[in-house]
Amino acid sequence: MKILGIVGSNRKNGNSYLLLKEMLKNLSEIETKVIQVAELDIKPCKLCFEVCSKKPFECVIEDDFTMLFEEMKSTDGIIIACPFYFYIPSKFQPFLERLSCLDYFTEEKHGKGLSPLAGKPCALITVSASASSFNAFQLLHHLQEFALMLHMRPITTNFWPFIGFSAKSGDIEKGTILREKKAIEQAKEILKLLVMEIEKRGRVLD
Ligand SMILES: Cc1cc2nc3c(=O)[nH]c(=O)nc-3n(C[C@H](O)[C@H](O)[C@H](O)COP(=O)(O)O)c2cc1C
Repeated sequence: MKILGIVGSNRKNGNSYLLLKEMLKNLSEIETKVIQVAELDIKPCKLCFEVCSKKPFECVIEDDFTMLFEEMKSTDGIIIACPFYFYIPSKFQPFLERLSCLDYFTEEKHGKGLSPLAGKPCALITVSASASSFNAFQLLHHLQEFALMLHMRPITTNFWPFIGFSAKSGDIEKGTILREKKAIEQAKEILKLLVMEIEKRGRVLD
């Protein structure tokens, strides 16, 4: 089983990254990979509609977008860990733009039902200093919309707001999240749910 973690923060090795690493620690039978958009070059969408998605979900801009999208396609489950930066960090936003544009023009030019991520389980995690529930909910809701647009299967939790998890980093400095034991516990619970969903999907596909 392979799980890909995508960190949406503008800064490397920040709280979202540290939470994700903590979640994925000591997993013996699961292959994990974490990619930080802070380390990538992903340019904004140019809305070049004539050439966009000539082939389904194919973007003509050459940068790290393709690599990240390929990683998403080839994994069994995805965790998106994204900090609240009112709302989406600007390094992550171009990735969402590009995929949403590919989704739109693929459907226009080739028809429905072609998302290569369809049915893929994903877990959505937001991180903010105070986890003000309303802000965190808005960001989770946005990420959920993104996942659903691509026909992914966001897992739900047993606690509010159910569509993912909003972790509190306590402060803005890198590392403060590691003091938040409850947040780490809850994030690990979500990982269990994600693994269960991947296993269930595997059985359905067998
Ligand atoms: C532009 C911007 C706006 C932010 N707004 C909020 C906010 O409204 N509420 C909050 O709790 N934290 C807010 N934060 C703090 C981050 O969400 C927080 O520091 C988080 O731990 C950063 O995660 P990272 O290290 O993964 O980037 C904001 C940060 C930035 C850069």
